[in-house]
Amino acid sequence: MRQYNNIKVNLINPNDKTAHIYDLVNAPLKGEEVTGAEIELIKSLCSQFLYPKQKCKILDVGCGTGRHAIPLAKLGYEVTGMDSSKEMLETLKEKAEKAGVEVKVICADLLKSEMPGGKFDLMILMWNAFNEMVHNEEQAIALLKKLKGGLKKGESGKKGRLSTGGKILINVDDSQKMNLRDLNFKTENKIGGCTYKQSWKVLDLDEDAKTTVSEEKISVIDEQGHEIASYTSEIKQTWWCRDSIKKLAKIVGMKMEEKKIKENEEVYFVLN
Ligand SMILES: C[S@@+](CC[C@H](N)C(=O)[O-])C[C@H]1O[C@@H](n2cnc3c(N)ncnc32)[C@H](O)[C@@H]1O
Repeated sequence: MRQYNNIKVNLINPNDKTAHIYDLVNAPLKGEEVTGAEIELIKSLCSQFLYPKQKCKILDVGCGTGRHAIPLAKLGYEVTGMDSSKEMLETLKEKAEKAGVEVKVICADLLKSEMPGGKFDLMILMWNAFNEMVHNEEQAIALLKKLKGGLKKGESGKKGRLSTGGKILINVDDSQKMNLRDLNFKTENKIGGCTYKQSWKVLDLDEDAKTTVSEEKISVIDEQGHEIASYTSEIKQTWWCRDSIKKLAKIVGMKMEEKKIKENEEVYFVLN
């Protein structure tokens, strides 16, 4: 299905084709520094629960190749990763095995499926995963209600302190500072004798729905300068912002707090 103007695209997960090189392609955008700072933010949210971190259960929704799931599992958290791309999860599993950690994975679109069993302390939707998943208010409310239903309730600790209830962390680009017509960018990563090139171009923008369809082109160039692989995908994203997420939080009966990290210009919304 390819029909622009009212923004419909083929919904086969575009990440399936490129999952095996996803980390290499995206290293210039999401390197160790940013990811490390995000892990610190997640740790600080988890430190508000009263029990030891081994008991802290995290659901990484749209987990991709485990950029957060694997370091969090290394730190001792019990992590479940959920993604609709089977190949992203295969890459995650290989990385987890190499790292000697366990991450439970579920291949599903949470909009269409049930919440995984058990209650979670923290759910994270990192790097615009929310923007890829929900494209109107109705979908966003349905997703947040579903997530909220899977959160642990607050509880009393040893000294009668009350542990805060479960939280949802939504990380998106700060669309209030962006021109959606101009999301175009290029990156290049030279590593292991190959160059991984990526370019993004906005194909269509629905101003009212704040929704874009972008073309992502990825190519791999060998040492002799020959292109040895190339992939083109279309990605649909809806650009949620501070005001729209605050409104959603209110509708589903949650409070929103905003966090920033110094490593990037993105925003991190904590709902609880
Ligand atoms: C930009 S990536 C972010 C990956 C990871 N959270 C990170 O920070 O590196 C967005 C992820 O959301 C996943 N995704 C998109 N739509 C989804 C859906 N409806 N259900 C589950 N996962 C989805 C994609 O497959 C992709 O792995």
